[in-house]
Amino acid sequence: MLGIDYPIVLAGMGSRGKATPPALVAAVSEAGGLGVLGGAGLPAGELRAAIRATRALTRKPIGVDLLLPATLAQAPPSRNAVRAELRSRFPEHVAFVHSLLAQHGLAEAQVEHDFVISTNARNGAKTPQEEQVDVIMEEDVQVFAAGLGDPSWVVPRARAKGMTVMGLAGTVGNAQRQIKAGVDIVIATGHEAGGHTGKIATLPLVPQVVDAVAPVPVLAGGGIGDGRAVAAALSLGALGAWVGTAFLVADECAIPAQSKAQIIDGSSAQFEVGRVFSGKTMRSYKNEIIKAWEKSGLDPLPMPYQKILMDDFNEAAARAGRWDLHSNPAGQIAGLLKACKPARRIFDELVDGAIASIRQLNRGIAA
Ligand SMILES: Cc1cc2nc3c(=O)[nH]c(=O)nc-3n(C[C@H](O)[C@H](O)[C@H](O)COP(=O)(O)O)c2cc1C
Repeated sequence: MLGIDYPIVLAGMGSRGKATPPALVAAVSEAGGLGVLGGAGLPAGELRAAIRATRALTRKPIGVDLLLPATLAQAPPSRNAVRAELRSRFPEHVAFVHSLLAQHGLAEAQVEHDFVISTNARNGAKTPQEEQVDVIMEEDVQVFAAGLGDPSWVVPRARAKGMTVMGLAGTVGNAQRQIKAGVDIVIATGHEAGGHTGKIATLPLVPQVVDAVAPVPVLAGGGIGDGRAVAAALSLGALGAWVGTAFLVADECAIPAQSKAQIIDGSSAQFEVGRVFSGKTMRSYKNEIIKAWEKSGLDPLPMPYQKILMDDFNEAAARAGRWDLHSNPAGQIAGLLKACKPARRIFDELVDGAIASIRQLNRGIAA
């Protein structure tokens, strides 16, 4: 269906291009899986450049993942306009972030680009997400993956172009909505996952989604970090694995070395779900900033307000090289990951480990 050798897919991870850069996407596709570029935070022009850079490294199938949030607080489609609203409507939150900057000796900073996930169009033109989708349709991309939201408006265009469409689901209800939207493959991702995540764990979620959407194929995601978990996903009825966090420690992944070290050194319990960095429930490394928000008693704002507020904080931390204070979305499986490796090795270990696990299970039955 996807033209790949092994049913292992690099999950699209959208952190301004750092988590799934062209080198990582291409490495997974070249290894015989499917590399998916996380396009969510990239303005249309940068998304096009990233797709072309990936294409320069591989002729194999590739995918692009976008977030198409259906439910967003009504916010203006520009960072500056959101910042102005933050100052007038949420002065307490803005003051708290200023106090965090002062406490850590960070100079105030702003994300320079004006891209923002919004359901509103700029001056009656296209929404930023419509512009991103246009790019995917114009470029040499075989798979479209829809994260948060409703991809129904993208499906007919993707079909017309011969693309495969996948949709993420964290509940059986989400999965049924994705089927209604017309996706070809459902990705069932559990609570363990890194990044935005739901409440149902992978083990109970996957078989329920498999039953609910049959005969539509399902990929399992959330907590898959070695071949044993790939074999488990297959035994739950999934046809393959959607793997995010385990590839964050690939040499080709461009997140900062300090963020990789938090994943390598951290235990599963240090990766908690919270709303501090985006306004939606997101699993990330629990750093001092998340702890300070919790202590403050302030409720994080809805997306995109909280995200735009904290993107500027992240920018200040990044400029100071304080990656320990920067957000670091990753999943519970971080506890299992002990070393950075080339993507090809991570991939081969997933495949070889799955085969070894299945063989061992078979031997158990024979005995
Ligand atoms: C750093 C990071 C960024 C992510 N960004 C996105 C995104 O932009 N779109 C999306 O659909 N999922 C995103 N996710 C979720 C992944 O696609 C995937 O579902 C998850 O990583 C799977 O669980 P695992 O991390 O346990 O492998 C992100 C995950 C991480 C860790």
